[in-house]
Amino acid sequence: MNFASDNIVGASAPVLQALVQANSGALPAYGNDEITKRVKARFADIFEHEVAVHLVTTGTAANALALASAVPPWGLCVCHQEGHVIDDECGAPEFFMHGAKLVGLPGVGGKLAADDVASYLKSLPKAVKQMPPKALSISQVTECGLVYSLDEIKALGAVCREHGLSFHMDGARFVNALVSLDCTPAEMTWKQGVDILSFGATKNGCLMAEAIVVFNPALAEALDYRAKRAGQVVSKGRIISAQFEGYFADDHWYANARHANRMAKLLSEGLSGIPGVRLGWPTQANEVFPIVPKAIDQALKATGAHYHAWTDVSLPADERVGPDEALIRLVTSFATTEAEVRQVVDIARSALSRQAAE
Ligand SMILES: Cc1ncc(COP(=O)(O)O)c(C=O)c1O
Repeated sequence: MNFASDNIVGASAPVLQALVQANSGALPAYGNDEITKRVKARFADIFEHEVAVHLVTTGTAANALALASAVPPWGLCVCHQEGHVIDDECGAPEFFMHGAKLVGLPGVGGKLAADDVASYLKSLPKAVKQMPPKALSISQVTECGLVYSLDEIKALGAVCREHGLSFHMDGARFVNALVSLDCTPAEMTWKQGVDILSFGATKNGCLMAEAIVVFNPALAEALDYRAKRAGQVVSKGRIISAQFEGYFADDHWYANARHANRMAKLLSEGLSGIPGVRLGWPTQANEVFPIVPKAIDQALKATGAHYHAWTDVSLPADERVGPDEALIRLVTSFATTEAEVRQVVDIARSALSRQAAE
C-alpha cells in the first residue's frame, strides 16, 4: 500500500507504448522532430489558444523557468507560504530569477484569496528601495489538495491585471483539477487571466514529462534560451514529446485523472466514516488529508503502508490536531486499486475497534 505520492509509480501503458514506438529510427534532435511538432500543435488545440510550449523533465524546472520568464531580478513573486515553489524546490525559482524573491502568504488549504493578495500588494511601499511585485504563482491543485474554483482564479487574475503582475499556475496536478471542476483547460487558465502554466504530466501517467505553456507571448521571448541554460533542452526531445503523445491520445490523461480522483473519493469517504476520523480539508482531487487518532497512524505504519505526515499550518482557524492525533496525507494515482483503498480503510477501522476493546 503506497499512498506516499502520485509519482511513486511508473508510466501508464499507453504512455510507455508511445515511448517504445518513438524509440525506433533516426529523428532530428533538440525538439526539431515531427513528434514534438505534433505535440506542440496539440497543446494549442487543447488550450484553444496560440501557445509557446517548452517540454521539460521536472516540475521544478517548469516552475523555475516559468517564474524566471515572469519576474525580473529586482522583482517579487507572491505565492502561498506552503507553495511547492517556495517550500519544495530548494530555491530553484529564486536561483533562476537571479535575485528576485518569493513571498509566501498564508491561506486556508494552501489557497490564496484575491482580497488578501490585493491587501498585501497595496501594503507594499513604492520606492526604489523596495522590490516591486511582478508575479503571482498559485498551485492548482493546492498543496492541501484543494481546487481553486473558476471564480477564485478569475478574481486572482483581476488582481494581477490591476497591479501589473504576471499570473503563473503550477499545474503539477492540472488534469486532476480539471476533472474536479468539470471545465475546459482554457476555462481554467487564460480565460481567467493565467499568463503562464507549468503543465504536469509525470504524476498522472508519464515517466518524466512536464511542459511550460505560455499564453502571454511577452513571457515566451527568451524561454528557449533560459531552458537551454538550465540544461532543459533535451537532445533526444522526442522521448519527452512521445510521452505526451501517448498521454493525450484518446483522452488517456483524463481517464487516469478520473480514476485517481475516484480512488481519493472512495478513500476519503471510507476513512471519514470511521468514528474519530475527520478531514483536515475536503477531498477535491486525488489527495486525502485525514486527521486520525494516533492508534490508526501506528496501525497503518505497522502494516508497512506508505504516506506522509502533513503540516497543520493551513488548517481552518477552528480546526486543530489534538495531542493524540496525526494529520496525514494519502495520495492516489492512476494505478491505485480499489483493493488498496479498502485495505487502508479496513486497517484503520480495525485499529480503532481493537483500541476500544483494550
Ligand atoms: C504542487 C507541485 N508542484 C510541482 C511539483 C513537481 O516537482 P518535481 O520537480 O518533483 O517534478 C510537485 C511534485 O511534488 C508538486 O506537488
